[in-house]
Amino acid sequence: MHDDAAHLPGVADDGAVPQEGAAPSARAARVSRRGLLGTLGGGAVGAVLGGAAVALGRGSAAAFEPAASSAAPATAIVEFMGEHQAGIVTPAQDRMHVAAFDVTTTSLDDLVSLMKDWSSAIGFLSRGLPVGGSAGAGGDDLLSPPEDTGEAVGLTAGNLTVTVGFGRSLFVDAEGKDRFGLKSKLPEALIDLPHFPGDQLEEARSGGDIVVQACADDPQVAVHAIRNLSRIGFGRASVRWSQIGFGRTASTSKAQATPRNLFGFKDGTANVKAEDASVVDEHVWISGLEGESAWANGGSFMVTRRIRMTIETWDRQNLGEQQLVVGRAKASGAPLSGGEEFTEPDFAKKGADGPLIDVNSHVALSHPSRHSGAQMLRRGYNYTDGTDGLGRLDAGLFFIAFVVDPRTHYVPIQNLISKQDLMQEYVRHTGSGLFIVPPGINMAGSYLGKSLLEG
Ligand code: HEM
Repeated sequence: MHDDAAHLPGVADDGAVPQEGAAPSARAARVSRRGLLGTLGGGAVGAVLGGAAVALGRGSAAAFEPAASSAAPATAIVEFMGEHQAGIVTPAQDRMHVAAFDVTTTSLDDLVSLMKDWSSAIGFLSRGLPVGGSAGAGGDDLLSPPEDTGEAVGLTAGNLTVTVGFGRSLFVDAEGKDRFGLKSKLPEALIDLPHFPGDQLEEARSGGDIVVQACADDPQVAVHAIRNLSRIGFGRASVRWSQIGFGRTASTSKAQATPRNLFGFKDGTANVKAEDASVVDEHVWISGLEGESAWANGGSFMVTRRIRMTIETWDRQNLGEQQLVVGRAKASGAPLSGGEEFTEPDFAKKGADGPLIDVNSHVALSHPSRHSGAQMLRRGYNYTDGTDGLGRLDAGLFFIAFVVDPRTHYVPIQNLISKQDLMQEYVRHTGSGLFIVPPGINMAGSYLGKSLLEG
């Protein structure tokens, strides 16, 4: 089905994401009959209807009827279109499913059609609609699989965001060969991450040509998104690794309470917050690139690290040791130099035994004051993948950070942490990825990655 994007329900005639503000067609009126119009707001209506009209061309008579209670309230919808992709400064949702894909086609046209199809599908999913619109999960065509797998029908949009990024391996293969004619557009900062001390990376959990991060307040919504994008990608891209996260470990908005990681500590206290626009502009969004890399302006770099925690060892440490390692109080999240959660740590403050915050604590080593002011927007999740066969939990933190440049905002910090951090005794990095997230779709008829693939 990928040979002709226009045949895929949900994809407009030019294969692009449904156009914002497009006039509803006669067939789109049937969507209104199903009560969907009432669930969508303003300019969003046209955006979805543009695609829904195409979708309804396929067996709309027996469309899969969402339950009356399934109308997605506007409050649970995060706008997909925008200057930047959603899912970065969006208030961190509670659940995550991230998948990295290997591109299996050698054709640039196929890659373009994949990004168009995915963009179109994400447009539907972000509104709590099945891929292909209301008929996508059913219809009267008994000879084909439905366009949508169906398990999210009856659920709200759950604040779903789907964020897409490109790995270095999409541009050049292991021998440095240009895979799709994109090598000259490879931004310098999209490096091969170096080996960090203590890394125990597993090939099968690392790398990937394209990453797709789906975050939502409902785990079924996030998994549904990855499943359907994976299905759409069949023949063009296959899943290399994926990870489910069950609890956010960061707050990305001042309106959010600070959550806790599996060490039981508040995590995200000193994170970059969406409200600090100038900090986000300086430390998160790519800008000022010229020439062949200019396509990436408005994007960001996404670092992923699967960090397993040796939970059982940690749980046997006394509270004093745990706090020493982090540099903060477990209950309140306050720095050990005093104050409350949001008090700035005072690394110079001394007690009877030296600095109140140990120089090798996690906070002391990762603080911007140690890294020329570099800050990162952390957006990680707790994960548990069962047990390891020896009775130990395979659990930890799926670390995600968005940064303006990994050479200045990630590599030096990870190097210092890996060498000296007291926390290293309790963690093991088993997966790694670095991706460049292209800018968002901010004009009608566009798709994710267009500035790279057609610019
Ligand atoms: C399992 C691994 C990790 C755990 C459990 C963990 C936990 C924490 C905790 C509890 C805090 C203090 C609260 C806060 O400000 O958010 C913190 C802060 C921080 N962490 Fe981590 N972290 C981990 C890995 C990493 C990694 C891999 C990096 C980057 C390479 C990193 C970078 C930071 C930064 C930049 C801060 C804020 C420091 C500040 O400005 O005070 N963390 N982390």
